[in-house]
Amino acid sequence: MERSRIARLAAVALIGVLAACAKSNSTASESASPSSPAIAQNGAAANDGAKVYTQNCSSCHQPNGKGVAGTFPPLAGNPTVTGDSTAVIHIVRYGLSGSISVAGTSYNGMMPAWGQSLSNADIASVVTYIRSAWGNKAGAVTESQVAGVSQ
Ligand code: HEC
Repeated sequence: MERSRIARLAAVALIGVLAACAKSNSTASESASPSSPAIAQNGAAANDGAKVYTQNCSSCHQPNGKGVAGTFPPLAGNPTVTGDSTAVIHIVRYGLSGSISVAGTSYNGMMPAWGQSLSNADIASVVTYIRSAWGNKAGAVTESQVAGVSQ
C-alpha cells in the first residue's frame, strides 16, 4: 500500500512539473517573438565585439580599456593595439607573456591564449572593437585575417 501511495504522489508531482514547464514555455514564446529589435547589419561586428570584450576581457583590462597600472596594461591609447593588426591578432589568439612597457609603465604578466575559447569570428570582432573603442582609431579586422595568423 505504502509503495503505491508514493508512486501516486510521484506521478502527481511529475504532472505538476510538466504543467509548469508547458506554462512557462508558452509565456516565453509569447513574449519573445513580436518585439525583438532589428539588428543593423553594419553595426553587427562592433556590437558583437563589445559583448565579447565585456564577457572575456574587461575583468582585467577594465570596461574603460584603461587596465590596472602595473598589472593589466591599458588597451585605450595603446599604440600596439592600434598598430599592426597581425600582431594584435597574434596576441589575442595565442596569448602574451614577458616584459612589456606601455605608456611608460612596465608589465611582466601573462595573458592566456583566447584561440581555444573564442572563435575566429569572435576574435575578429573583439579586436575590431579594441582598435576602435575609447578614442582608438584603427581599422577593422576580418575573420579570414584571424584565420591567417598562425603561431
Ligand atoms: C586574466 C587577465 C586578462 C584577461 C581576461 C585579458 N587580458 Fe589581455 N593582457 C593581460 C596581461 C597581464 C597582459 C600583459 C602580458 C605581459 O605582461 O606580457 C595583456 C596584454 C594584452 C594585449 C597586449 C598589450 C600590449 O601593449 O602589448 C592585448 C592586445 C590584450 N591583452 C587584449 C586582450 C583581449 C582582447 C582580451 C579579451 C579577449 C584580453 N586581453 C583579456 C591580461 C588579461
